[in-house]
Amino acid sequence: MNKYRQLGNTNIEVCTIGLGAMPLSLDGRPDEAQALDVIEAFVAGGGNFIDSANVYCIDDSDVGHNEKLIARALSKLEDAKNIIVATKGGLRRPSGGWTVDGSPEWLRQSCEKSLQDLNTDSIFLYQLHAPDPDVPLTDSVGELARLKAEGKIHHIGLSNVTVEQIQLALSITDIISVQNRCNLFEQTSFENGVVKFCEEHNISFIAHSPVGGHFQHAQRAEDRLLKKLAEKHAVSTYQIMLAWLLNKSPSILAIPGASKISSITDSLRAINVELSKEDMQLLEKQQGSGCA
Ligand SMILES: NC(=O)c1ccc[n+]([C@@H]2O[C@H](COP(=O)([O-])OP(=O)(O)OC[C@H]3O[C@@H](n4cnc5c(N)ncnc54)[C@H](OP(=O)(O)O)[C@@H]3O)[C@@H](O)[C@H]2O)c1
Repeated sequence: MNKYRQLGNTNIEVCTIGLGAMPLSLDGRPDEAQALDVIEAFVAGGGNFIDSANVYCIDDSDVGHNEKLIARALSKLEDAKNIIVATKGGLRRPSGGWTVDGSPEWLRQSCEKSLQDLNTDSIFLYQLHAPDPDVPLTDSVGELARLKAEGKIHHIGLSNVTVEQIQLALSITDIISVQNRCNLFEQTSFENGVVKFCEEHNISFIAHSPVGGHFQHAQRAEDRLLKKLAEKHAVSTYQIMLAWLLNKSPSILAIPGASKISSITDSLRAINVELSKEDMQLLEKQQGSGCA
């Protein structure tokens, strides 16, 4: 399996396993030294794509925590310019909750703060975190297109979207990535055609929550068939889940979260796992029977 894939239609190649940086900044986050070590270990292990968001933080008084952390970690690295950082705007964290705000004003304000927090002049990939039901998608994406025209962002991505929403966004600007929840146990983006659409339009599909998600990964990792395959390949069940995703489509990138060094170093090893056709069939069958 190819360990690097082109990011959308850019000439940038990213490692198929990226770092989902969210657990470094939510409630229960590790101390700063450990968080910086996780990012450093990811880069040392060959990773070059980090996913962030302004709202990866505790609450609205802490917005930008994750981006500032990434900027601090990269400032210590010699080859930081080779690391692609993707961030997002379009949500808020009132009193620690999660709400959507895709208004052009909030997106602009968020992007300008992200530029400061990431300590950069231009963000390589800026993603709309989620469509806002109260704001026409064309207004939200239109503002991102203006931020791109002004040079504040290089490329635009979407998150938590359907094929129809991607098509609507594409009618006004170029989109290089789509980030939806996707893992062995939650396959909506395969079922509703989003992954296929991305393949056909040279858009990277970034699978978020790829090992089951922030709250469910530990339970998912105990799955019987995953354990059997992990034993066969002498790897972790997490690596089997990630290898399965990467095998499903040449457009997929996975961004497992990590708050521990051991988690991200283990996940990075998934790029070396070669699942057989039979392994893939077994995993598909189990998922299809609903007992996975
Ligand atoms: N666009 C969106 O709306 C959206 C929503 C959710 C997430 N995301 C993005 O997707 C990323 C991943 O999602 P997620 O963090 O919610 O869920 P996830 O990646 O499915 O699970 C993350 C948790 O799994 C554990 N883990 C991961 N790999 C492991 C391994 N190899 N061995 C042992 N434990 C492992 C980590 O535990 P430890 O913490 O103990 O290391 C981590 O906290 C996020 O970080 C974020 O960047 C985006």
